[in-house]
Amino acid sequence: MAKTINWGIIGTGWIADKMATALNFLEDANLAAVGSRTLEKAQRFAQQFQIPRAYGSYEELAADPDIDIIYIATPHSEHYANVKLCLENGKHVLNEKAFCVNKKQAEEVIELAREKKLFLMEALWTRFQPAANALVKTIRDGVIGDVHMLKAELCFLLNRDKEFRLLNPNLAGGALLDVGIYPITMASLVFGSRPQKVVTHAVMGETGVDERDCINLFYEDGKFASLVAAIDTEGSNTAYIYGTKGQIMVPQDWCPESFTVKTYADNKETTYKLPFSCNGYEYEAACAMDCIREGKLESEIMPHSTTLEIMELLDSIRDQWGLRYPFE
Ligand SMILES: NC(=O)c1ccc[n+]([C@@H]2O[C@H](COP(=O)([O-])OP(=O)(O)OC[C@H]3O[C@@H](n4cnc5c(N)ncnc54)[C@H](OP(=O)(O)O)[C@@H]3O)[C@@H](O)[C@H]2O)c1
Repeated sequence: MAKTINWGIIGTGWIADKMATALNFLEDANLAAVGSRTLEKAQRFAQQFQIPRAYGSYEELAADPDIDIIYIATPHSEHYANVKLCLENGKHVLNEKAFCVNKKQAEEVIELAREKKLFLMEALWTRFQPAANALVKTIRDGVIGDVHMLKAELCFLLNRDKEFRLLNPNLAGGALLDVGIYPITMASLVFGSRPQKVVTHAVMGETGVDERDCINLFYEDGKFASLVAAIDTEGSNTAYIYGTKGQIMVPQDWCPESFTVKTYADNKETTYKLPFSCNGYEYEAACAMDCIREGKLESEIMPHSTTLEIMELLDSIRDQWGLRYPFE
């Protein structure tokens, strides 16, 4: 069996829970420690997921010499400081999306990881999932011809409490960095991450963050992606990818477990089902472990260059809206 990799988790919120489940599912992963801002929460989380060590600060977790890699599961505003802390303590890092608040922060931590020769990757789970990879292969194989148009969305009606992470500008809330990044990922998988023209509109909420976004990305040869993201509305959250010979429908487009290909010449529809082995978070964790064992500093699936391109795009979209977080 492959060498076991020892994991730590920073943060004990919603996504930390999901990743803990995935790490406990993976035989070659050992979820060895959790760090919280409060010891009580760390202990509760540790008990829930049978984690041997619980720390009441992120610093103590980062200093634990037995940990190989730390998964960062904190709000966007905290990623930069948390990634730095881990790297400075010699730990590899799997960092949640959005990777940082802006490209400048992202460049700095990527540079630090390279200097320290440590693995660092953005945990954009969709990119690692079997159905997402199969649909990209279907496109590359030319099954639907030349792809020229994409529609994707991710819209949820979320908690309206002003203190809620996504409505709080101090935590870099808003739809774009949290859910908007998924339709942008779909566009990036299909057309790349460097559109020639970006035309957007956002509806800003009472707390000053974007709650509903319309993002149109234009590429060479008339290709375009029409994207929608919201945290105040439920959506169908289905993507459609249109080519000259057919189209692909992707239900649950931020974490697909199936997709349907329709080809025009024979009017045939085929659905491909690729369910998760666990909960969908196991693939990014497995990729990070493979990279660490192979001595890689970045992954080919989510390389630093792609993270930086996406951060640049997010910055340019926020510039169009004049959206700056209070601490920027
Ligand atoms: N890939 C996905 O499917 C997915 C889904 C949801 C979220 N995410 C990403 O995961 C990250 C966390 O999201 P979440 O939904 O898990 O958030 P959450 O439930 O609010 O949890 C965030 C955790 O971060 C810690 N934290 C550190 N500083 C904080 C601060 N100033 N305010 C509040 N909490 C703070 C807290 O843990 P302690 O108190 O224990 O320190 C908290 O439990 C974000 O980057 C988000 O975009 C990804």
